[in-house]
Amino acid sequence: MLNLKFNPFPELKTERLLLRQVLPTDVALVLKIRGNEEAMRYIPRQRAKTTEDALGVIAMLTSGIKEGKSINWAICNKNRPTEVYGIMGYVNFYPAQAKAEIGYMLHPDYWGKGYIPEAIKEVEKFGFEVVKLQAIEAKIDPRNENSRKILLRNHYTFDRLVQKEMVFQEEELDSEYYIKYKP
Ligand SMILES: CC(C)(COP(=O)(O)OP(=O)(O)OC[C@H]1O[C@@H](n2cnc3c(N)ncnc32)[C@H](O)[C@@H]1OP(=O)(O)O)[C@@H](O)C(=O)NCCC(=O)NCCS
Repeated sequence: MLNLKFNPFPELKTERLLLRQVLPTDVALVLKIRGNEEAMRYIPRQRAKTTEDALGVIAMLTSGIKEGKSINWAICNKNRPTEVYGIMGYVNFYPAQAKAEIGYMLHPDYWGKGYIPEAIKEVEKFGFEVVKLQAIEAKIDPRNENSRKILLRNHYTFDRLVQKEMVFQEEELDSEYYIKYKP
């Protein structure tokens, strides 16, 4: 049985970061992140273009938490929690397999600083110890070298390639899956 009750919201802390709930007051930064072409290149979701789009993203993240279907954290500066660098979380849970899919993104201004390995450690610990996951999976576009590098560096192993898994904006997309089992 997975523990998918996220109330109160589980904030996580690392040396440099606070991971907290994404709130409607973050709308400008969510628009900046989810509207950034470079950051969205390999994410098969509509890019946010307006404040309404960004509020829609926040509403989706909020209902995922309430319904126990997903949980995402705003990756923030620990000393200035209104400064959001990116978003990370479990975008899908598969309770029958005690598995979740992890996802992450940073605004390009914050790439190359090692924020993902710092945040992912706490998010994995939460997943294995609190949610009681047995495995964490990540799905990437095979062209997404930056994301593959993160997964391999953080000890995820290649699991499978699914060709033409989906169509997005009239393009057939392959997916590579990586997996990490509970230690
Ligand atoms: C994927 C993504 C999050 C990677 O960001 P990133 O900043 O390259 O990744 P990390 O946070 O792991 O940082 C690692 C880099 O920081 C450097 N670094 C600097 N300080 C560091 C520190 N204290 N600790 C660790 N690494 C540090 C590392 O050397 C490494 O640089 P390198 O790759 O040039 O060797 C980013 O490219 C992104 O947001 N992409 C768009 C969204 C996306 O595609 N998400 C994945 C969907 S599956």
